[in-house]
Amino acid sequence: MHSLESLHTFGLPYRAKQVIPIHQIDEHAQTLHESYQQGCPFIILGEGSNTVFTEDYIGVVWQNHLRGIVFNEQGDHIQIQVASGENWHALVTQCVQRGIGGFENLALIPGTVGAAPIQNIGAYGVEVAQFIESVEYLDLATQQIITLTGAACEFGYRDSIFKHALKDKVFITQVNFLLPKQHTLVTQYGELSALMSPTIQSVYDTVIAIRQAKLPDPAQIGNAGSFFKNPVIDTSLFKQILTHYPDAPHYMVNAEQGLIKIPAAWLIDTIGFKGTMQGGVQCHPQQALVLTNLQDATGQDLIAFAQTIKQAVYAEFNIALEHEVQLMDARQRVTL
Ligand code: FAD
Ligand code: EPU
Repeated sequence: MHSLESLHTFGLPYRAKQVIPIHQIDEHAQTLHESYQQGCPFIILGEGSNTVFTEDYIGVVWQNHLRGIVFNEQGDHIQIQVASGENWHALVTQCVQRGIGGFENLALIPGTVGAAPIQNIGAYGVEVAQFIESVEYLDLATQQIITLTGAACEFGYRDSIFKHALKDKVFITQVNFLLPKQHTLVTQYGELSALMSPTIQSVYDTVIAIRQAKLPDPAQIGNAGSFFKNPVIDTSLFKQILTHYPDAPHYMVNAEQGLIKIPAAWLIDTIGFKGTMQGGVQCHPQQALVLTNLQDATGQDLIAFAQTIKQAVYAEFNIALEHEVQLMDARQRVTL
């Protein structure tokens, strides 16, 4: 058995039957294919910042260490080919240092480049999908390397084809980005809009400062970022909420369809969970959407607290929260 505690940022004290680091995909393609065909439990893991192991895992953890970054000039764009095991924030930092704009709002998001397209990472008004030219993956059924264009990845809010038709069927090996040389900074979000004469560097620095003030550092306190997604609701439900909470924060996501996004942090905060604890898990005092492993939490503590919050939000607002975090039990992914 192999400890998983340092392999996922929530840091629960569980173990896996086997952990296999992958440095070259060719060396493991056949074994990956065989375990997929035989239906053996396995998970492909990057840095474990969006995955929580809630029990000992009976399967194999394939840990991604693929490395390599190539920058190419392509007319009025820069193309960047990045092996999927590279660290996301290190890539963002390299781009900022080279004066390449695009990723600065996505600074300090933990994890690997290969996991970024899976939930289409986003922050401060930018989503990675905007810059993805294509995603290359090993098809576990056929052992072919396939290239999928960004347009074919079916990106949405914290969503992509890799969470649906291609879920647990592929190993993402490389992501190819296309960044325009003529870049427009995105500074609409809160504190960013206060920047005088913003630059790529100042947006990057400010995003890092905002994140360090609000979000717990996983190296200090175990967490997996936002535990739930921000729900998208229809106008009639939103009107009902307004009758009790006239100041409810919200963002129109589709005016034609009357779809409104409401911050899950506000829902959880409003009903009083912020800063509270259940078992060893705390609802973070600076950001109610983040659950932390404050005091030797167990998987059961986390699941129980998440369910308590989910039920309380439903009772008060009639909204069913969905968790963003990938929860693993002894064999597979689980949904609350
Ligand atoms: P992992 O947790 O290792 O994997 C995530 C999922 O992808 C798993 O289901 C795994 O099986 C699958 N997977 C991983 N790599 C591959 C691969 N190569 N091929 C196929 N499947 C694979 N996210 C945001 O969008 N915005 C934020 O602002 C943000 N802030 C965060 C802040 C903190 C403090 C933390 C801890 C997390 C935050 N997150 C945020 C979530 C997280 O950083 C992202 O989801 C990130 O992309 C996860 O990368 P990872 O390598 O750690 O993925
Ligand atoms: N709010 C509260 N209480 C809180 C925190 C926030 O009421 O404790 C309300 C405030 O009204 C605030 C609003 O919620 O204006 C939004 O809060 P914030 O800007 O902190 O962002 P978020 O919606 O909670 C999302 C992402 C984050 C991303 C930030 C910044 C999701 C699920 N989360 O959080 O992503 O970094 O926006 O863009 O979409 C992640 O996915 O893991 C993650 C951290």
